[in-house]
Amino acid sequence: MLPKIFTSIKDWQAFLKKENLTHSLGFVPTMGNLHAGHQSLLERSVQENDHTLLSIFINPTQFDNHSDLENYPRTLEEDIDIARKTNVDFILIPTFSDLYPDNYTYKVQETHLSHIMEGKSRPNHFDGMLTIVLKLLLIAKPIRAYFGEKDFQQLQLVQGLAKAFFLDTEIIACPTIRDENGFALSSRNSRLSSEQYRQALLFPKLLSGQTQDSLKTIPEILSGCGFQIDYIEEHCGRRFGAVKLGNVRLIDNFCIQNSIQSSNSIPNPL
Ligand code: PAF
Repeated sequence: MLPKIFTSIKDWQAFLKKENLTHSLGFVPTMGNLHAGHQSLLERSVQENDHTLLSIFINPTQFDNHSDLENYPRTLEEDIDIARKTNVDFILIPTFSDLYPDNYTYKVQETHLSHIMEGKSRPNHFDGMLTIVLKLLLIAKPIRAYFGEKDFQQLQLVQGLAKAFFLDTEIIACPTIRDENGFALSSRNSRLSSEQYRQALLFPKLLSGQTQDSLKTIPEILSGCGFQIDYIEEHCGRRFGAVKLGNVRLIDNFCIQNSIQSSNSIPNPL
């Protein structure tokens, strides 16, 4: 069945109140361009909750680069089709003015974990991300919300947000979905040429420890193979990396210790 689509936050809130869904709603926030990674989050929510809400909103406040925002893939019809096939019940597609009545004069800031890795490379990115996630969680009022480990730092920050602001939503961590070559699925992958894709496979291979290379040699090998390095770092038994190939930015992370702490805990980055 076609999911019920809401473009107005007021309409969604009125519906939520009338149907009294809050005790059984699962939520998957996205920026659209859905792929198998998003689909796995939606499937898990459909499995674990009576109803599932998907939101699609390309959030401008979390982009540090105008051309990245302009070039972000927009595939609404295909996204609705994936939601229908996955048995999603509702889709929220809000507008900027509806979501930001304050025109982003109010924002959420985290002052510790958000300053390393992605936060250092993309100033203000996490302010925008945390602000929109807080807004969406307050609007959706889900019992559970699903986030992928591909964006591990985002996941940790959202778990911290839920704890810091006593949100009534359980944040569920879901494993990264990879293609048959071990490459993490991402909306930005479609911007890689087939030649770049073949080259890019070296990134997860090195980062995962398959080649036994060290934190010191991985950046050297990647640089030598045409990658531009943003960071390669290890924290709490997990190795994180961000690189650029041409104008496509890739991020990934792997658990590199058997004794890694559970992915539900917030690592101390220092
Ligand atoms: O991971 C994403 O797609 C976005 O950061 C999110 C969580 C939907 C917020 O805009």
